[in-house]
Amino acid sequence: MMKNARKIAVLTSGGDAPGMNAAIRAVVRKGIYHDFHVFGVYHGYDGLLNGEIKEMALGSVADIIHRGGTVIRTARCEEMYSAEGQEKAARQLKNHGIEYLIVIGGDGSYRGAAAIAKHGIKVIGIPGTIDNDITGTDLTIGFDTAVNTVVEAVSKLRDTASSHERAFIVEVMGRNCGDIALKAGLAIGAESILVPEIAFDLAEISEKLVRGYRRGKNHSIIICAEGAGNVWEIAEKLKQHSGFETRVTILGHVQRGGAPSAADAVLGAVMGGKAVDAVLEGKSDIMISHYLNQIVDRPLDLAFGPRTPFDSRLYELANQLAI
Ligand code: F6P
Repeated sequence: MMKNARKIAVLTSGGDAPGMNAAIRAVVRKGIYHDFHVFGVYHGYDGLLNGEIKEMALGSVADIIHRGGTVIRTARCEEMYSAEGQEKAARQLKNHGIEYLIVIGGDGSYRGAAAIAKHGIKVIGIPGTIDNDITGTDLTIGFDTAVNTVVEAVSKLRDTASSHERAFIVEVMGRNCGDIALKAGLAIGAESILVPEIAFDLAEISEKLVRGYRRGKNHSIIICAEGAGNVWEIAEKLKQHSGFETRVTILGHVQRGGAPSAADAVLGAVMGGKAVDAVLEGKSDIMISHYLNQIVDRPLDLAFGPRTPFDSRLYELANQLAI
């Protein structure tokens, strides 16, 4: 006989990220281990509003830990911005007798959760986005995999870049956040890293390319976060200033796919497990966070505060190394 008839639900929302499946699996398995009924909400908040809520058995999360994407699907949902949508979302959960909603996603997804909490549902956020742009956590699920994807792609571009002696401008994801660009740029030894957080001077970057060429470099790689500016215009200006042939590669949604790195699969598992611990402790309005090298829970509304400052020291180091 089940000791615990309590019901909890898990939902993924916003952009998918590798490692989300590991987190879903952890919530389902650890939830069932503690005798909860665990429900999956399909298609994010869209699905919640339409009542796409199904109980998940142990076997429903078999063979997913190594898969990218999210097996319970995701969506971006306009209706959740309205008071009616938020009230309806909470009602759907109450109709199923669900006490807790665990939301895996970014800060926009947390806002939906916070609104639902006002209607009497307990909520927990798990940070899942490749952008690493959630305040309150040093790391998000999917970021490490995305950085590795960029590094792998650039190693292929390098072959053709050096054969033709070209400068490649590689656009990576990160609407408002330069973290993917910074980490990947540092990992590959990029000549320049362009991010939305820090102003840059294309004339200066061109001079650096010319200096490198005089020292015998046969190609250059510039990593540009999508939020840093129009990559085509940047490539054209660099060509005009430096005289080098430039090429643009936009890595796009490739960065969101693929098997999670070991680090992301572990992060997903540990954060999912920690969310169930928080349920057992009766906590609500919290986010699971990688903070000071520990997995802890922190207030959800931290995510709505000012952005975590960009790591300008690491950025400076990358610049010094690419002198
Ligand atoms: O938030 C994650 C992210 O991948 C951003 O880096 C990117 O700008 C955006 O999602 C793309 O969103 P969509 O898949 O809706 O085009």
